[in-house]
Amino acid sequence: GQKPISFSVNGKPVSTEDAGDTPLLWFIRDNVGLTGTKFGCGIGMCGACTVHVGGRALRSCITPISAVDGGEVTTIEGLSSNASHPVQKAWSEVQVPQCGYCQSGQIMQAVTLLSDFPEPTDEIIDSVMAGNLCRCMTYPRIRAAIKRAVT
Ligand code: FES
Repeated sequence: GQKPISFSVNGKPVSTEDAGDTPLLWFIRDNVGLTGTKFGCGIGMCGACTVHVGGRALRSCITPISAVDGGEVTTIEGLSSNASHPVQKAWSEVQVPQCGYCQSGQIMQAVTLLSDFPEPTDEIIDSVMAGNLCRCMTYPRIRAAIKRAVT
């Protein structure tokens, strides 16, 4: 057979002989069994499926597992234990979620934003978060939570 694809998910090694073009999103959900990463659009347009690879936000629905061979994948479940990451705490204090479906992707994107811009302006927040859609229109609370995570 083909050479297995190996990487880590939340620090745990995984190895698979699944086809290299298997989307990372489905591998995470179906093979690893972590369901915090959501399917929204499947075409890279909504951000619900955002995970980190090597610490960078990335859309898992359009990322083939072959592209993360040897890499380190982090999902919302791996961000912290007990939702204790400062961004998760801010999300909870501001009570951001309404339906909640897009929020793990929002948080993963926000973590990357804050590592790039430790004190982001509204303009930076709006431009970096623009690709993460929320049907419940929680955008003002997302912005507030990002600012709260700074202070
Ligand atoms: Fe991946 Fe929408 S599900 S961007």
